Amino acid sequence: MFETLTAPQPDKIIQLMQMFREDTRDGKVDLGVGVYKTPEGKTPVMKAVKAAEELVWQTQDSKGYVALAGDAGYLAAMKGLLFADAVPHARLAAAGTPGGTGAVRQVLEMVKRLTPEATVWISAPTWPNHPAIISYLGLATREYRYYDADSGGLDRAGMMEDLAGVQKGDLILVHGCCHNPTGVDLTLDDWRALGELCLSTGAIPFVDMAYLGFGQGIEEDAAGMRLLAGMVPEMLIAASCSKNFGLYRDRVGIAMALCGDEKAAAATGGMLAWLNRQNFAFPPDHGARAVQTILGDAGLTDLWREELREMREGMQANREALAAELQRITGSDRFAFLAAHRGMFSLLGASLEQVEQLREEHGIYLVFDSRMNVAGLTPETIPLVAKAVAEVMG
Ligand SMILES: Cc1ncc(COP(=O)(O)O)c(C=O)c1O
Repeated sequence: MFETLTAPQPDKIIQLMQMFREDTRDGKVDLGVGVYKTPEGKTPVMKAVKAAEELVWQTQDSKGYVALAGDAGYLAAMKGLLFADAVPHARLAAAGTPGGTGAVRQVLEMVKRLTPEATVWISAPTWPNHPAIISYLGLATREYRYYDADSGGLDRAGMMEDLAGVQKGDLILVHGCCHNPTGVDLTLDDWRALGELCLSTGAIPFVDMAYLGFGQGIEEDAAGMRLLAGMVPEMLIAASCSKNFGLYRDRVGIAMALCGDEKAAAATGGMLAWLNRQNFAFPPDHGARAVQTILGDAGLTDLWREELREMREGMQANREALAAELQRITGSDRFAFLAAHRGMFSLLGASLEQVEQLREEHGIYLVFDSRMNVAGLTPETIPLVAKAVAEVMG
């Protein structure tokens, strides 16, 4: 069975993590992997999460199975967090999943069963797991232009021109906020235009919300998705609690579908639960229960929002400091886009050779497409990174 097997190519980001670990130089800087870090270089357990886990530990009297879709309290709490009162919650079908990746997978599994002929339109560029999962499931995919490297902003005209080619039933996959890897988000007008396009063509939006609260604030980051939800009859959502609750390894996510009415939502919820059954049966409970506990307690919610605000502001401060330092050294506004982007990532615009040079000569690790995780910067490393970038990118 295994004689002819060749191992799949290792994931590039995982490879990069390994290279960083093996690098013995002092002063190396990890701007590669997509996890939040404090200025001390730690990815801590949030205080609100610790407190919630303690409450769970004290009160939980069974580790028995819960439900195929996860705990109803978790699903309700997440509907509230993501949608507030933008749509009636009875129209939202939902199931817990192992992380946001699991949610993307389960949503696409459902699409594969219901409309196998649908094309999934993805932004150029996007998180590499999007095309990987789509092609693994055997769904068709097409790219739409998104990032304009010259301006460091959205290629609005290119995006709408490409998306004019969508067919009824196609999916338009959009990042809810803090686009990975570009850091460029849609404005409310863009979300409205997307809604109008979906209404006129019958395409279905699929929102991947992996960084809620990392951009401008929870409500601000959710505003586009909520606006869209208010416009269209149907929508798909994959959300992650990895980043905003710092629950990476506990695997907390949710797959959702906004349906035309309550009856369709009940059937779709059943389908999502059934799909969970086929793939892994019950979604992980521990992290989801911590989220549910936080969102169900006003004090813990305040604490969590405060911690999230600190993380967000820290990343924004790093962006501004790096852009200012680059401006000072180069005397140009070439890197001003860094301060305008949101979330953890930006594309620096370096070539592969320049990315390698930054790594080999300066110990600065970026992903191969020059994606930089701004959370990896510190007040000490910002001048060094700016100097190296100015030198290498001349
Ligand atoms: C765009 C996007 N979607 C989904 C995810 C899912 O993350 P996880 O499976 O760790 O929750 C990520 C994480 O990197 C992401 O960047």
